[in-house]
Amino acid sequence: MDHFAYKNGCLYAEDVALSDIARQVGTPCYVYSEATIQRHYRVFDDALDGLERTVCFALKANSNLSVVRTLADMGAGADVVSGGELRRALMAGIPAEKIIFSGVGKTDEELSSALDAGILQINVESERELELLDAIAVEKGVKARIGIRINPDIDAKTHEKISTGKKENKFGIEWTRAHEIYARARDMKGIEARAMAIHIGSQLTDLAPFRDAFVRTRDLIAMLRADGHEITHLDLGGGLGVPYEPRHADGAPIPSPQAYGEVVRACVGDLGCHLIFEPGRVLVANAGVFLTRIVRTKEGTTRNFAIVDGAMNDLIRPTLYNAYHEIVPVREPGGDAKMARYDVVGPICESGDLFGKDRLLPPPDDGDLLAIRTAGAYGAVQGSMYNTRALAPEVLVRGDQFALIRRRLTVDDILALETPAPWLA
Ligand code: LLP
Repeated sequence: MDHFAYKNGCLYAEDVALSDIARQVGTPCYVYSEATIQRHYRVFDDALDGLERTVCFALKANSNLSVVRTLADMGAGADVVSGGELRRALMAGIPAEKIIFSGVGKTDEELSSALDAGILQINVESERELELLDAIAVEKGVKARIGIRINPDIDAKTHEKISTGKKENKFGIEWTRAHEIYARARDMKGIEARAMAIHIGSQLTDLAPFRDAFVRTRDLIAMLRADGHEITHLDLGGGLGVPYEPRHADGAPIPSPQAYGEVVRACVGDLGCHLIFEPGRVLVANAGVFLTRIVRTKEGTTRNFAIVDGAMNDLIRPTLYNAYHEIVPVREPGGDAKMARYDVVGPICESGDLFGKDRLLPPPDDGDLLAIRTAGAYGAVQGSMYNTRALAPEVLVRGDQFALIRRRLTVDDILALETPAPWLA
């Protein structure tokens, strides 16, 4: 459920007409609904009721400070993957003791800043990282609280680019080596290895891989405990999928947070571990739309094109992962509107600059607005300035008010980053 709906012939975010936002902020832009973010957090957290837990929002899905602040105010922690995201999480008011630092390639500086901030846990993904972190912690005279990220070698059955739990993926330490790594960590003065972590992939639409991975961690924890290791925390990662299509391709519904919670309870609920979750997409995807205006239409002999002012640099998911995003007109089509098929494309000089093929739309006019739905996760954060296009602004709606939470970059901003080589001056 989300708070985007037609009222008075126009698509609204809560009580604000998207056409008003387009008029005042310009297009393209991202629009988020605060009530939807809050609802999704509540539903996810309620599904884990009874479990001792920390829900750490994966900032990579949407790291805008106002979005993170909204979740911080609900009690969320944060999962960060860079020094930059760590700064954002702290700035947005997430307490350090609710922050997890994940990632395969943390630098010395990043590890050091995580120790200085005193965060909940650093998830270590290789033996070399473990050695390095030990050395840094010893030098600082502290003990690093860590989770060891295990690669459980389980196929998440999602897009190959967002699958992370197979042994050929770069993530984590092979589960068969868990015993040896925890034993090494136990001997390190700067390390307190009290947690296990996994994350097998993103946009999972089947609960079976979660179940398999959770059972694997359960067995590993039992084995480690039998060997005298104290494992008090278990980080189950993120990955729960969301419905991008009105009806999922194979007709099966996307598993609900409740169903996911049941799997968690059944597999690891009685381990006595404090559970950590790192949901990203499920909290924010349906809370955002990408608002774009049709620059012009072009009717061909074989296809019709609606060319819009947003492009793959703003929302790369369709071309990068062949992802489906629903595209709807902001002006509500009348009941008798004759629909026609259009490819919705951006202006960039690549055929991959495409938001949707063969979409049924009421015959669009130049200047009409379209909303590309489910764009609140991995949308703005993956934007680039390709073609010297300025990053799209972001807007947050609360009830009948809205705020510009990231301004539009200008071409002047982009050019100001560059300095001509002195010999060209
Ligand atoms: N934890 C870790 C360690 C992760 O790597 C990720 C996502 C998450 C949590 C959050 O996963 P989520 O709950 O959002 O599925 N750009 C891609 C998605 C990349 C996901 C990367 N890792 C997309 O647009 O589909």
